[in-house]
Amino acid sequence: MEDLPARPRLRGLHRASALFIGLFVLLHMANHLAGLSGQETHIAFMAEARQLYRQPFVEVALVCLILWQVGSGLTMLVRGWARRTGTVAWLQSASGGYLAFFLVNHIGAVIAGRTVFGLDTDFRFAAAGFFAPPWHWFFAPYYFLGVLSLFVHVGCAAYWSSLASRPALGTALLGGAAGVGALLAALIVMALSGALYPVAIPPHYLATYGQ
Ligand code: HEM
Repeated sequence: MEDLPARPRLRGLHRASALFIGLFVLLHMANHLAGLSGQETHIAFMAEARQLYRQPFVEVALVCLILWQVGSGLTMLVRGWARRTGTVAWLQSASGGYLAFFLVNHIGAVIAGRTVFGLDTDFRFAAAGFFAPPWHWFFAPYYFLGVLSLFVHVGCAAYWSSLASRPALGTALLGGAAGVGALLAALIVMALSGALYPVAIPPHYLATYGQ
């Protein structure tokens, strides 16, 4: 028997802010999908997408919402620890916990890349770690699990939403989300690491890794 997470008000606010963050993440994932056909396509797509999210108001709102998302998520993770039962509840907690770790590091790296190192945080910034050994051993699982966790976490929410009325649909949605997430995560890591097409990283990106 699966146990629904408690604290409905906190969970409701966590879901509401996820909807706004989700608009950016959809665009961001579309950017990475476009990038499967080439480094230049990724960079060109991002140049267009930045017209939308690189407005100061949008960026500040996005970062604030993500901080709220991470804080409220970790609060629910800790508060419900002792009474959490069932595979899906634990899958939701594990994927949420990893997303919190990923997002704090990811946004911190993007902000530091822009402000401290003066880099254009485009495809080359994301891919540089794959060409600065031994950092590829960190970045491959780091990015793979980031994308997979996102899909699994959303899949868990879909599971809980359909549990009461159509439980089989919920299981199918969660399984489908995990499958699509794993495939997309693998393709993105392959693109960044140069397995799909040749990738060129300028020396000043590699210099941040002491290479
Ligand atoms: C392989 C996976 C990923 C890669 C390679 C990647 C790469 C990047 C890059 C290069 C930027 C800088 C964008 C810019 O300068 O315009 C960025 C920003 C960002 N990414 Fe990702 N990302 C990945 C996955 C994710 C996921 C799964 C999420 C959310 C769940 C996410 C959330 C964000 C956010 C919130 C920003 C900051 C946007 C801003 O305010 O400028 N990313 N990412």
